[in-house]
Amino acid sequence: MQIVHTITDLRVALKNKAHVGFVPTMGNLHAGHLQLVNVAKQQATIVIVSIFVNPLQFGANEDLANYPRTFEADCEKLIAAGTDVVFAPTVNEIYPDFNAQTQQLGQTMTINPPPIAAELCGASRPGHFSGVATIVLKLFNIVQPAVAVFGKKDFQQLFIIRELVKQFNLPIAIIAADTVREPTGLAMSSRNGYLNEAEKNKAAELHQQLSDIVNKIKQGHHDFLSLERSAIATLSNRGWQVDYIAIRESRTLAPAKASDSALVVLGAAKLGSTRLIDNIDFFALAN
Ligand code: PAJ
Repeated sequence: MQIVHTITDLRVALKNKAHVGFVPTMGNLHAGHLQLVNVAKQQATIVIVSIFVNPLQFGANEDLANYPRTFEADCEKLIAAGTDVVFAPTVNEIYPDFNAQTQQLGQTMTINPPPIAAELCGASRPGHFSGVATIVLKLFNIVQPAVAVFGKKDFQQLFIIRELVKQFNLPIAIIAADTVREPTGLAMSSRNGYLNEAEKNKAAELHQQLSDIVNKIKQGHHDFLSLERSAIATLSNRGWQVDYIAIRESRTLAPAKASDSALVVLGAAKLGSTRLIDNIDFFALAN
């Protein structure tokens, strides 16, 4: 596996390589990320993984400084998974006008994402999806992949990236990979490492509430508002600070109607100071 840190070296590594598969990450890799590499290997002749903790997508009060950085362990996992090239740029490489003294990124041109980016996770993380769309566009321009793989774990992010590719006519196929979970049902996440032992034992409750909603809808419940409210109440009673629980149409992310059959139930909630997200997409018999 080749490790490159500059765009120039990456272009050399990819010269004459057709049908490049790309998996963008922020590192601290777990089995969820490695599954994306597996999917990419099935779809492409060469697989590039980027590791870059993107400051542009973090809010002022978020965990940019503390975000886990485990580059060597990540590389070992990527070798085992059969990755061909790791691209691990510096902030300066990605943001050419970065000012190290003031920490200003100098990215004065950014993607203005669609209105859905202000809902769900975007409601409590203003600017987050603009930061995500901007870095993903930059990475797509740098890597120029034929195929890029993203996890359904970040369902809203996946939706916005599909819009980015469609609306900017990018010649890239976006592939969605299923969420990899712990045996308890907890979705794997780099942020799970922030949880203490007691929180780790509680953390699967978010997924349990989402699963309960899925089961109830499949049994014919269509009062989505009351299903959302009841899950919020249950989690709050158990000590979670709930950001949202939302039942949406899975292809548009619009609030679900009883006549919709492609659905996704999404949730975000904090345990202590750790914010966790999860979702389940499924088909229900429409009313
Ligand atoms: P990161 O959180 O590192 O996630 C990288 C990719 O791994 C994303 O596509 C995410 O959906 C996927 N992923 C995370 N946990 C997963 C799980 N349990 N199962 C399956 N896939 C999982 O998402 C980002 O980084 C950044 O926003 C990025 C797209 C790299 C832009 O900076």
